[in-house]
Amino acid sequence: MAQVSIRNVVKRYGSVQVVHGLDLEVQHNEFVVLVGPSGCGKSTMLRMIAGLEDITSGEIRIGDRVVNNVEPKHRNIAMVFQNYALYPHMTVARNIAFGLRAAKLPKAEQEQRVREAARILGLEELLERRPAELSGGQRQRVAMGRAIVRDPQVFLFDEPLSNLDAKLRSSMRVEIKKLHQKVQTTVIYVTHDQVEAMTLADRIVIMRDGVIQQIGTPLEVFRQPANLFVAGFIGSPEMNLIEATIRHKDGQPRLEMPGGIDVPVPPRNGSGALADGRRVTAGLRPEHVVAGEALAALPEDWRARATVGVVEPLGSESLLMLDIGDREITGKAVDSNLPAPGDRAAIGFNLAHLHLFDPESEQAIY
Ligand SMILES: Nc1ncnc2c1ncn2[C@@H]1O[C@H](COP(=O)(O)OP(=O)(O)OP(=O)(O)O)[C@@H](O)[C@H]1O
Ligand SMILES: [Mg+2]
Repeated sequence: MAQVSIRNVVKRYGSVQVVHGLDLEVQHNEFVVLVGPSGCGKSTMLRMIAGLEDITSGEIRIGDRVVNNVEPKHRNIAMVFQNYALYPHMTVARNIAFGLRAAKLPKAEQEQRVREAARILGLEELLERRPAELSGGQRQRVAMGRAIVRDPQVFLFDEPLSNLDAKLRSSMRVEIKKLHQKVQTTVIYVTHDQVEAMTLADRIVIMRDGVIQQIGTPLEVFRQPANLFVAGFIGSPEMNLIEATIRHKDGQPRLEMPGGIDVPVPPRNGSGALADGRRVTAGLRPEHVVAGEALAALPEDWRARATVGVVEPLGSESLLMLDIGDREITGKAVDSNLPAPGDRAAIGFNLAHLHLFDPESEQAIY
């Protein structure tokens, strides 16, 4: 049985519908990340699960109980927000114990739970400090401590890391992952950061305008994006999306791209249905557009030429901005001898990783 079941949930504010019949089953101990651009309904969804927002129609279950009309404090959930909302005049220990005091738990039990949470979160040395005497990451951990001590059935996180700088964000990301491994609980986590989503999630739910676009493991949504939106949203740098035309030659479909580039479409599921003359959007991630040494691994007819624009060395690899016709695409190279801007360089497309989308429906077709 799923720990959290969301069935055909709709949310309207007045006449404006912002969540359109959402379905999601979150399993026991699963870490599910809701991701999508600003305004797509992530926080609204989380607040409806928490009970901070009514649902217009549909059903939400936590455990075996329909909670549509259950007060937030009786839903057995704990929520961590972007602004941690710690009480500035209380010590860390008192902040963490706040919910337990409110629930009138015996003092010894309160202390025991606070000690345990502090141990898990590495806050033992800081229990007597006040929030003003803590770093952003430490405050974040206190907010998580406050959630952990309540031993909830479900943790809800709404962009808990977005107030932190990039370095702290990535270390807290690891902390949250470790924490989940230690406390083994169900988590629904909201972010607009696809890196956070990829690294934390057992499954990712990609939302757009109040509609789920795809649900899958990080690798599934990365390797088999269901549509153009997911293809462009997941992965950094973004997947190259190139307008192209299918041309049959000797009975085999080929891809005509800008800049006079013409490469075969390797036979696989979907390739049989590609009619001659069909307009498609081709998708190739930057790591599958290569130059230099990596070319040697690709078949001869997967290669082409492009004009090098900007070269961005990143250390272990370099990004290449390549002009093909009037389009700019991003490629990668690992060589120390890089092409120079303006060069007409040999490039290769790793077509084993080619995606094709229908430009009208935006759905993946190959
Ligand atoms: N109280 C409200 N009244 C009217 N519209 C609202 C209200 N709260 C949210 N909305 C609208 O609902 C939509 C979804 O908002 P929500 O806060 O869920 O987005 P989000 O995905 O969390 O975005 P962000 O990444 O910016 O936090 C938005 O278009 C927003 O303007
Ligand atoms: Mg939000």
